[in-house]
Formats: sequence, structure tokens, C-alpha cells
Amino acid sequence: MNPLFVTATNTNVGKTYTTLKLIESFSKEGISVGVCKPIETGVITEPLDAKALLDTVKQYNSAFQDLTPRDITAYTFKLPAAPFCADKTQIIRIEKIKTKILELQKLCDLLIIEGAGGLMVPITKEYRMIDLAKDLNLKTLLVTPSKLGCINDTLLSMEALKKYDIPFDWCVNLFEDKHEFNEVTKPYYDAVFTHWWCLDKGIKSFTLKTIEES
Ligand code: GTP
Ligand code: MG
Repeated sequence: MNPLFVTATNTNVGKTYTTLKLIESFSKEGISVGVCKPIETGVITEPLDAKALLDTVKQYNSAFQDLTPRDITAYTFKLPAAPFCADKTQIIRIEKIKTKILELQKLCDLLIIEGAGGLMVPITKEYRMIDLAKDLNLKTLLVTPSKLGCINDTLLSMEALKKYDIPFDWCVNLFEDKHEFNEVTKPYYDAVFTHWWCLDKGIKSFTLKTIEES
């Protein structure tokens, strides 16, 4: 299967939360799942997103058993910032990220890749998160927030994905401003999108559809 790239409209929207659910959901359908967090910033002792992701993968896929959280990343940085800013000595090489992804792909049927921040986050001066999804032909899942302002953020990310001609699905992580969502956001999504879904309800259908299409 083609790897699945999990992105979001911004940092802290729920990429890790979603990826953990996806690992469980695909694994329960009998798919051998692996995980990669190519770049993690804000790392003091160990990469915490990578650790959470790896711990869950290990429950289902023994091929990841001997790996450490750093093994599922290509780069980690101390400063909690966009990779370009966190990478103060400009060490990032895109080839190293691609090699890491290829290496981890060999250990599973479906590699789920959690991006850093959102789509336009710079990895290097010239190369953004979205370029990685495009270059590697990654099927993308855009996670969107539920708080006020999310319509604008969601539409902007969708426009970027369409411009880059990246096939994508998207889901709402119904979490912040959950109770206001029905009144302040849902009416627009219902009016504009024939099919849209929330993470807590739609993950099984998404999983089955992805397997069927692979
Ligand atoms: P970065 O990787 O730092 O860009 O963030 P992220 O997009 O991966 O966000 P993450 O999944 O870490 O979610 C941010 C915080 O919100 C974490 O503390 C999550 O546990 C929490 N969170 C996100 N979504 C949900 C949700 O739907 N329910 C609950 N209970 N907590 C959530
Ligand atoms: Mg995360």
C-alpha cells in the first residue's frame, strides 16, 4: 500500500491523536502498520510523538519491536519551531528523510507518516511539508480542528492540496469548541461538502475504503 501522510491545518490540531487511532484501526483490519515521524522539533530528551506512535505500533507489528523512537525519525531538534528554524546549522537533507521512509516501509504493509505542523511548514528554505507529500506521491489525510476559525484554515489547506494535485481525504477532529461546532461550523460543511466526517465516527469507513482502494 502507498504510505498515508497525516497532516493538519496547523500544529496541535491532533495529528498524533489521529495517527494513533489509525494505527489501531488498520491493525484491527489485519494490516501490518508502521509509523514514521520524519522530523520532530521541541525534543528535549526523547521525541515524544515518535515514542507514542512507536509504542502503539509495537503492540501490533513485531517488525518495529527493536526500534527506538529516534529510529522512526530522520531528524529531531530541541527548539519547538518549524524545522527550518529549529535546524540552526542547516543540516537537513531531504534525501535522508526519503531514505528513512523507504527503510521503514519495508517493515510494514502500510506506513503512516505524521507531518510536522501544517502543509506549508518549511523543512528547508525551499522545501515544505507539502513538497514531501507531492514528491513521494503520498495519499494524504488532512486533520482539521473544530474550534471557531476552522472553516478558513480548512479551506486554505484544501486549496493548497488541490493546487499541488495531491489526492486527499479530510476529517474533523471534534475536540475544541465541540459544543459550538454544530451551530458555528457544521452548517457550512453540510451545505458545501457531499461527504465529510468526524474522526470519532468515520475512522472505520476511512480504513475500509483505503484498504479497498489499495
Ligand atoms: P504537533 O505534532 O505538535 O504539531 O501536534 P499534533 O497535531 O500531533 O496534535 P496532538 O495530536 O498532539 O494533539 C494536541 C493535544 O490535544 C494533545 O494533548 C492531545 O492528546 C489532545 N487532543 C487532540 N485531539 C484530541 C481529541 O480528539 N480528544 C482528546 N481527548 N484529546 C485530544
Ligand atoms: Mg504530533
